[in-house]
Amino acid sequence: MENKKKYEAEMDFEGLLKDPIRLFGAIYPYFIVIIIAGGIFWITRLGSVFKNEAPVAMLQRDTIPEPIPMKKGTPQEGVDVMEISQSTPELVTKGQELYKANCASCHGDEGRGDGTAGAGLNPKPRNFHELEGWKNGPKITEMFKTLEEGIAGGGMVAYEYLPVRDRFAMIHYIQQELMPETPEVTEDELITLDQTYKLAEGKEGENSIPRDMAKKKIVEENNYEIGKINNLARSVAADNSLGSRIIQNNTDDLNKALWFLNNNPSWKTGQQEFFRLLSDNFPANGFSAGVFRLSSEESIALHSYLLSLYEINLVAN
Ligand code: HEC
Repeated sequence: MENKKKYEAEMDFEGLLKDPIRLFGAIYPYFIVIIIAGGIFWITRLGSVFKNEAPVAMLQRDTIPEPIPMKKGTPQEGVDVMEISQSTPELVTKGQELYKANCASCHGDEGRGDGTAGAGLNPKPRNFHELEGWKNGPKITEMFKTLEEGIAGGGMVAYEYLPVRDRFAMIHYIQQELMPETPEVTEDELITLDQTYKLAEGKEGENSIPRDMAKKKIVEENNYEIGKINNLARSVAADNSLGSRIIQNNTDDLNKALWFLNNNPSWKTGQQEFFRLLSDNFPANGFSAGVFRLSSEESIALHSYLLSLYEINLVAN
């Protein structure tokens, strides 16, 4: 029996289709290639897969401290609380102006808590026509506390920088024109207010400037000083007078020596003080030991040269 092998196509597509296992056998190398290619692609992109996409600014928003706002500390004049607690037409007129300028944007022109700037606030700005739900309260003393300290956690900030008299003026205006009735206040309550905030004494203003600005100022001042020292050193080098030669020959570090003299101006009072200062701070002050071996003429020449050097450059700066 001849078992002649029939010619078989290298790929028996028909057979493959009928036999799923063989079909799989035929195509699985392609799967492997695709999986490997995908793996390589994924690995090379790992960096961006794991990269934190949130912008740095967003991540750190909570940790960057808010700069302290620039504030001009307002000195407060002492006031007579008993006097300004009495409403007068002048105070009310003044109060109205101030209210329109400072408060109406939130509390509304008529004090109904419906100003445009207050629309998004929660809690809402106080409606002065309603007598319920006040946090500090509607009396002069209570409203003053609100204006002095603000109300924590809401849109009502402190207005402690406005003059005390102006704050009383606004309170009178609100109480008289915007509220259904003017709340009574006792003398004792006014006295307590006076004492709590030392209103009779007044206070001196303390200015606060933002930290960043303060830092910048320090750097600027330092740059200015460094510039000044560089100028001094330049004019020493450019000068061929006896004094100039003496200082150049008796310093290890000319700039340092000039900086030292700049920061310890007592040397200007006389030669004795000059040499005392130099020996007290030797050798950290940039001078070399030779300075103590100068003849008296040389000492005089050096001291007077330095005096004129600093004088001229101070004027020039
Ligand atoms: C930015 C908006 C805004 C401005 C401007 C503003 N307020 Fe207010 N005010 C509020 C909000 C909000 C409340 C409610 C706060 C709360 O209940 O926590 C409030 C509450 C008050 C209260 C009630 C306090 C209490 O006892 O409950 C008084 C009084 C007051 N403001 C007075 C003023 C005066 C006077 C001015 C102007 C110098 C002013 N406000 C400016 C938003 C503002």
